[in-house]
Formats: sequence, C-alpha cells, structure tokens
Amino acid sequence: MPRRVLHDEFFRRAKAEGYLARSAYKLLEIQQRRAVLGASMAVLDLGCAPGSWLQVAAQVVGPGGVVVGFDLAPVRAEVPGWVVARVGDVLALPASDLLEPLVQRRGPGVLYDAVLSDMAPNTSGAGDHFRSVRLCEAILERLPGLLRPGGSLVYKVFEGEQYPDLLARTGAVFARCKGLKPRATREVSTEIYVVAGGYEPALRHAPKPGGIAPPPPGPGRGWGR
Ligand SMILES: C[S@@+](CC[C@H](N)C(=O)[O-])C[C@H]1O[C@@H](n2cnc3c(N)ncnc32)[C@H](O)[C@@H]1O
Repeated sequence: MPRRVLHDEFFRRAKAEGYLARSAYKLLEIQQRRAVLGASMAVLDLGCAPGSWLQVAAQVVGPGGVVVGFDLAPVRAEVPGWVVARVGDVLALPASDLLEPLVQRRGPGVLYDAVLSDMAPNTSGAGDHFRSVRLCEAILERLPGLLRPGGSLVYKVFEGEQYPDLLARTGAVFARCKGLKPRATREVSTEIYVVAGGYEPALRHAPKPGGIAPPPPGPGRGWGR
C-alpha cells in the first residue's frame, strides 16, 4: 500500500508560493482544465478553512468579484476585501444563509456563479464515504437557492458504492459533469472531484403532461477529457 508522504512536492510548493494549504493546487488544476471561475464572478466556497481555495478563487475573480466561504472552523488568515469567510455548519444552514453574504454585497436577487466544496468529514476509516456523500447531497439540495442557471459546481467526494448514483444525480441537472482526480490528490486518498458546468435547474422539475421529457440522468454530456 502506498505511504502517505506528508511533505511532498505540493506541500513544499505551497510553502514557497504562499498558499495556506497544498490543496490550492487541486483547485488550480481544476481551473486550468475546466475554467470554472472567471473575472468578477461571485463564488461560494464550502469547507473553506484554512483558506487556500479562497486564495485561488480571490486571485481569479479579482476585486470586481466576491468570494464567500463557510467552514466549521474559522479562517485565521487575512483575506482581501472581496472575500468573506464565515463560520457555519453547511449541513445545518439553509441556502438563504449561505447566500446572505453575497446579498449583503450585491443586493437582492443575486445568485452565485460557481459553488465549490472541498468539504470532508473527519475521517475515521468507517463510514467516511457515506458521510462524504451526505455533505455533497446537502449541496445539491441547496443548489436551486444558490447557483444561477448556467453556473458551475465543483465538489469533493470520497469514492464508494454511492458515487455512481451521486454523479448521475449531479449530471441530471448540469449540461456537463465529470469526475477528476487532480495530481495533488494523494495516492492513498479515495477522493475525487466532481466538476459540473451549465446548471440547468429546470431539469429538476417533472415534465408537464405532453411536455418535453428531460434527458436521462447521467454524466458525460461534454468535457471529453
Ligand atoms: C480539506 S479541508 C478544506 C481545505 C480548503 N479547501 C483549503 O484549501 O484551505 C475540509 C474542510 O471541510 C470542513 N467541513 C467539514 N464538514 C463541514 C460542514 N458540515 N460544514 C462546513 N465545513 C465543513 C472542515 O472543517 C475542513 O476545514
């Protein structure tokens, strides 16, 4: 079984390049391959502590954007003026609470352009996959009140028996949806990142009688690599 190397290439690069955690390189690779973030966007980062995804998102959106983070733990690092970091349990907060910092900045009627989640349960070895899936389901449940049509979603999940179903349920409401393992993911980890673009919330609703049926759930429309 491969050993978990603590101070690997990405740990050393994070130290040298001023990132708060090596996980910054996971979002940087996702951004490089899928371009989920852009200038001036409104971004929600769930499970944001210690703050390296906040750093990456803040760099990409720039001062014209807004990055809102939530975590069980506080973000202790200093953040730029267009970043808001709050303490909160995503499993307990309704979408309206997760949207509130953006409404404060941009006024009512706004939604996020992208929702990111690097949330992970405390790993105990038993039931980690199921607790991780529960966190992802909490995001999917809240999406209609958080993400604008056409927006993007990135979430981390520990792979296991419920992964194919979770991926299919995500693919059912996005035009493109695919799992991706960034290079910075440790060899011993079962984590995978689901990257979805082109949010289509209307597909959630059952078709009206005589209406056009939504496409069958499933990933793979778009993003061939
Ligand atoms: C791998 S860390 C995130 C690292 C972060 N993306 C970064 O780059 O700095 C996972 C985070 O998920 C948070 N988390 C786990 N369950 C959560 C929940 N229910 N609500 C909010 N945050 C949660 C943990 O507190 C932890 O800080």
